[in-house]
Amino acid sequence: MSSLVWISGASAGIGAALAASVPYADARVIDVSRSGGSAEHFKADLSDPADWARVEAHFREELAGYDGERVVFIHNAGTITPIGPAAEADREDYTRAVLLNSAAPQILGRAFLAATAPLTCERHLVMLSSGAAKTAYAGWSSYNAGKAAVEHWVRTVGAEQGPGGCRVIAVAPGVVDTAMQSEIRATSAENFPTVGRFHELKNTGALSTPAAAATGIWSLLTRNLPNGTCVDLRNL
Ligand SMILES: NC(=O)c1ccc[n+]([C@@H]2O[C@H](COP(=O)([O-])OP(=O)(O)OC[C@H]3O[C@@H](n4cnc5c(N)ncnc54)[C@H](OP(=O)(O)O)[C@@H]3O)[C@@H](O)[C@H]2O)c1
Repeated sequence: MSSLVWISGASAGIGAALAASVPYADARVIDVSRSGGSAEHFKADLSDPADWARVEAHFREELAGYDGERVVFIHNAGTITPIGPAAEADREDYTRAVLLNSAAPQILGRAFLAATAPLTCERHLVMLSSGAAKTAYAGWSSYNAGKAAVEHWVRTVGAEQGPGGCRVIAVAPGVVDTAMQSEIRATSAENFPTVGRFHELKNTGALSTPAAAATGIWSLLTRNLPNGTCVDLRNL
């Protein structure tokens, strides 16, 4: 039996590691990102509302007549840019961050739920969150707010699922050694007062690898977590 797996942002970092470690024998894996990686690529800029509609149409097209064992969407694409006080952020950069981190998870999550509603197979929707959903790091306003929105959306939509519904969870992966972490460490203390802690984590070898994060995330799909669970891999 086959699986159909979408991973947004599978061109790099945690998403690429997720695509490289899909735990199903016969899986078609589709990366939704701007640049593409090693998986089949659906090119989309997820900070552009026009591309949200394209992704929804793509979901529906690929799922028409689908009779495999499971469908999975891991919404992993996200950005920490721009870092710095909200009042000093460039309007366009800030708008793109809000669209990608806050709006896209809800819009694409809804699109996946709607497109998969007629299916009777196993369905999973996994949203990448962060410790920033709960901690108000100065300099990360749109990122913190986006991840908090992701978690509350997941709790709400999880509560909407009946028996046989989609399994909806959010996962904070811990501090993972990716380009996003390099960008964080490259920020001045003026723009990001907590930057020293992130240097220390890197210097003491405390970051986890994208591969380890991916293994942890995939393991969640077999744990039968209550619908709407928001979990941190560091607390498993
Ligand atoms: N790394 C960490 O320590 C950490 C901690 C907590 C949470 N997270 C979360 O984990 C997820 C992955 O983070 P990461 O560290 O792997 O990030 P990353 O290395 O910066 O990779 C980000 C991915 O998102 C995609 N992306 C960015 N902007 C996009 C856009 N406008 N449209 C479509 N795709 C876009 C990128 O693909 P393209 O550039 O090809 O579009 C890339 O594949 C994010 O949601 C992040 O918030 C990471």
